[in-house]
Amino acid sequence: MVAETLSSALDIFKTKAPSLVGIDISSTSVKLVELSDAGKAGFRLERYAIEPLPKDVVADGNISNMDQVAEALRRGWKRLGSRNRNIAMALPAAMVITKRIIVPAGQKEEELELTVEAEANQYIPFALDEVNLDFQILGPAATNADEVEVLIAASRKEKVEDRVAAAEAAGLKPRIMDVESYATQETFQLIGPSLPANGRDQNIALVDIGSHVSHFYVLRNNQFLFSRDQAFGGNQLTQDIQRAFNLSAEEAESAKKNQGLPENYDSDVLQPFMETLALEITRALQFFFTSTSYNQVDQIVLAGGCSLLPGLDELVSKRAGVGTMVANPFANMQASERIRPRQLAMDAPMLMIATGLAMRSFE
Ligand SMILES: Nc1ncnc2c1ncn2[C@@H]1O[C@H](COP(=O)(O)OP(=O)(O)OP(=O)(O)O)[C@@H](O)[C@H]1O
Ligand SMILES: [Mg+2]
Repeated sequence: MVAETLSSALDIFKTKAPSLVGIDISSTSVKLVELSDAGKAGFRLERYAIEPLPKDVVADGNISNMDQVAEALRRGWKRLGSRNRNIAMALPAAMVITKRIIVPAGQKEEELELTVEAEANQYIPFALDEVNLDFQILGPAATNADEVEVLIAASRKEKVEDRVAAAEAAGLKPRIMDVESYATQETFQLIGPSLPANGRDQNIALVDIGSHVSHFYVLRNNQFLFSRDQAFGGNQLTQDIQRAFNLSAEEAESAKKNQGLPENYDSDVLQPFMETLALEITRALQFFFTSTSYNQVDQIVLAGGCSLLPGLDELVSKRAGVGTMVANPFANMQASERIRPRQLAMDAPMLMIATGLAMRSFE
């Protein structure tokens, strides 16, 4: 059983891989990104697609309707127009338990597996045969040259299996199961050059405001200092619009994006919502300050669909007193001539996770 849990068909961490399409299965859509290696220029964006998901098919990262997700994956992949069926996916960080351990250097693979297994037994709250377990050697331990630091990741098997089953039902070949926050961190590297002083030695808050959840991270030189999930997002605004103007969810969702709402929308619905978002962000900053030794962030970067709300960056900047911009992972990247720059600018902030997953191909 030991060998079985460790040699799962899918590795949470895996390095050498064929070119992969990065796929983010989120609450409102399935997002696909394919990159190619552009040598010195870094990456080139070949293709991407955002395929909407029906409501409540994915909730809190759980797939509640397998067929609908498979169907969206099939449509999304078709729309992508790629021949590549090899994909990388991710689990929400909340579904993955990670732990860093220190072990003697030079252990054989099998020895290391046993050590990891024993360690995992101590802190994973469910039976190990219900768990996908994986590990990665991070490098020499800081304190002792005879030891190495190992990162262990564990998640419930069914969470991994649901995603794999949906992808396979869509004719795709899952190769990597990553963690969403790690994929975001990967993409964050692409944003550095757009930041003042390239973001070097600065605390950068990255806020991914999706539909149901917002992820708040603080990074310094591409490493996480802090992370926190909060249950708020654009779905709240959609509901506010429904209530204020007596619209269905679909109508409200479409009106929100196309800005076809009565005049009082801005003052009565949009501005109060944006104030709430700004307040949540300043609160998260306070949490960061009280739970670390830092008392400053140098820049805020907004991502996710809500970052497209016109004027949100300025409002957050004003309320938090920190320069704020909207993430564009493709700002310094070549893109295929198939891709329309205008549309890409509208979609880019929503593609952080899918892009980070596609980048795994080239590690
Ligand atoms: N142009 C736009 N203007 C305003 N809101 C938008 C725009 N485009 C998308 N949104 C909103 O952003 C949200 C979707 O963003 P995103 O794709 O980042 O969320 P998600 O990843 O599906 O959700 P979650 O991360 O909660 O699973 C929806 O609430 C949508 O209404
Ligand atoms: Mg999201």
